[in-house]
Amino acid sequence: MAGAGKPGDEARKKVIIDTDPGIDDAMAIFVALRSPELEVLGLTTTFGNVHTALATRNALHLLEAVGRTDIPVAEGSHVTIRKASKLRIASFVHGSDGLGNQNFPQPATKPVDQSAAAFMVEQANLYPGQVTVVALGPLTNLALAVELDPLFSKKIGQIIILGGAYSVNGNVNPAAEANIFGDPDAADIVFTCGADILAVGLNVTHQVVLTDADREKLEQCDSKYARYLCKIMGIYFDYHKDAYFIKGVYLHDPTTLIAAVNPSLLTYTEGVVRVQTVGITRGLTVFDNTKKKCVIHC
Ligand SMILES: *[C@@H]1O[C@H](CO)[C@@H](O)[C@H](O)[C@H]1NC(C)=O
Repeated sequence: MAGAGKPGDEARKKVIIDTDPGIDDAMAIFVALRSPELEVLGLTTTFGNVHTALATRNALHLLEAVGRTDIPVAEGSHVTIRKASKLRIASFVHGSDGLGNQNFPQPATKPVDQSAAAFMVEQANLYPGQVTVVALGPLTNLALAVELDPLFSKKIGQIIILGGAYSVNGNVNPAAEANIFGDPDAADIVFTCGADILAVGLNVTHQVVLTDADREKLEQCDSKYARYLCKIMGIYFDYHKDAYFIKGVYLHDPTTLIAAVNPSLLTYTEGVVRVQTVGITRGLTVFDNTKKKCVIHC
């Protein structure tokens, strides 16, 4: 909106949010919609917290709930890059509907007639070097985009990934973090595609907690976004109390989204990431900070 103190469209960072809503996905999507620094080009959906069909329904519902049905939703893959359909779904964290078991009505809107990967490729071609994909679920759609267009990794501006457990245990098992575990083959394709990638791992997001006290403050907020989130958050708090013995919830997805809004809020290490795709450490992220000098020969 011109004159409302918002930066113009040119100044706003164009983002596509690849998401499996998901309670903390809902938080991240709302953060994006409320950030004048960002222009949300679209939501693309994936499996993880829920199956992809439900993720699509939830993405449409979230946009409808806050009056942003102008933003397109493109449905993503229902299976992994290797076509596996036996997926790990975290409904025990987010509720069987993914949004705190609230029985929300079916949204009136529909996804666009284009796959998530095709949408990403199209937007990267429309705005070369200017589109940031914020990936909040398994990386299947991004891997499909890389396969669909060999130049995608050059044309996409940046890929910001919530994924990996760096120098810490994973949250699915000691090796793997949930999003990487969801499709390790896709994750390895994305991490090695040559794009500019920023990964936010569990060792970062486990430091960002919305506490019980924060929740009370949020409940006092006169905002439709806050009211909505307070309605769906209960089950997410219960899960954290049972699983991690903490009085609060990890803000995985919002922390990652914030890296798109204001990168200076985080610090970074440069390096190379590969993903283990087989065996008991399937889904492990191996990070090489490339700081070790090669004195003999490599
Ligand atoms: C997370 O792990 C990466 C990779 O080992 C490291 O560079 C970074 O400093 C860690 N961050 C925190 C906050 O522990």
